[in-house]
Amino acid sequence: MKYDIDTLNIPNHIGIIMDGNGRYAQKKGLPRTMGHKEGAENLKTISKFASDIGVKHMTVYAFSTENWKRPTLEVSGIMKLLSFYLGDWKNQIGDNDLRIRVIGDLSGFDEALRKKMAVIEEETKNATFELNIALGYGGRDEIVKATRKAAELCAKGELKAEDITEEFMSSLMYTSYVDDPELIIRTGGELRTSNFLLWQSAYSEYYFTDVLWPEFSTDDLLQAIASYQKRDRRYGGLNK
Ligand code: FPP
Repeated sequence: MKYDIDTLNIPNHIGIIMDGNGRYAQKKGLPRTMGHKEGAENLKTISKFASDIGVKHMTVYAFSTENWKRPTLEVSGIMKLLSFYLGDWKNQIGDNDLRIRVIGDLSGFDEALRKKMAVIEEETKNATFELNIALGYGGRDEIVKATRKAAELCAKGELKAEDITEEFMSSLMYTSYVDDPELIIRTGGELRTSNFLLWQSAYSEYYFTDVLWPEFSTDDLLQAIASYQKRDRRYGGLNK
């Protein structure tokens, strides 16, 4: 491999904030939606490669709670893309061993699209590599929803306040079925988390790159993993 990667220390779960689609389109003189299309194509390439090198789960930020505020044309362009990729997934992801799961508040998405999401989740459920697509997702919104659930259980007498532990809260998050990401990558040059996996990222290593998402290559992923492998992960403790 081009980068010095320890194949025994590949992160199990990687989060990706796929930023820079708009700027990519602008650079190429294309409409913004075409940037998202290239971004979606790249997601296929990167998922396949991640799976090949031993990553087990990837969670990608495809549409945030805040993205609803974008111009109608752009929102509808992204919806069309989602509909295309999720509806035609057999042709799109082919025989790749890819399990798709959607996380987030889907209430704003139309019924037909939600059905496609349910179908793809059901039909890919036996695959081993898991791609979690965050849609209508916001980390604060997720924490608020989890807190409400805990409060409701307390009100019904089914939960005691002292039983609200970190583990219990984790079990109420959308990602309850997967360990927290060891590595979170943000493309597109911004240095912020933008409400992505707030609860789950407490001990994640961040990797920021200026590369725009549609141009983020398999080599860039290896570089991110190589950087992650050089970090000294102490979880607040001390190394011997
Ligand atoms: C951020 O770039 C990207 C998004 C808001 C959308 C990401 C969506 C995809 C990659 C398509 C997902 C498709 C499937 C099938 C999951 P930006 O628009 O904020 O870029 P900019 O910062 O350069 O304007």
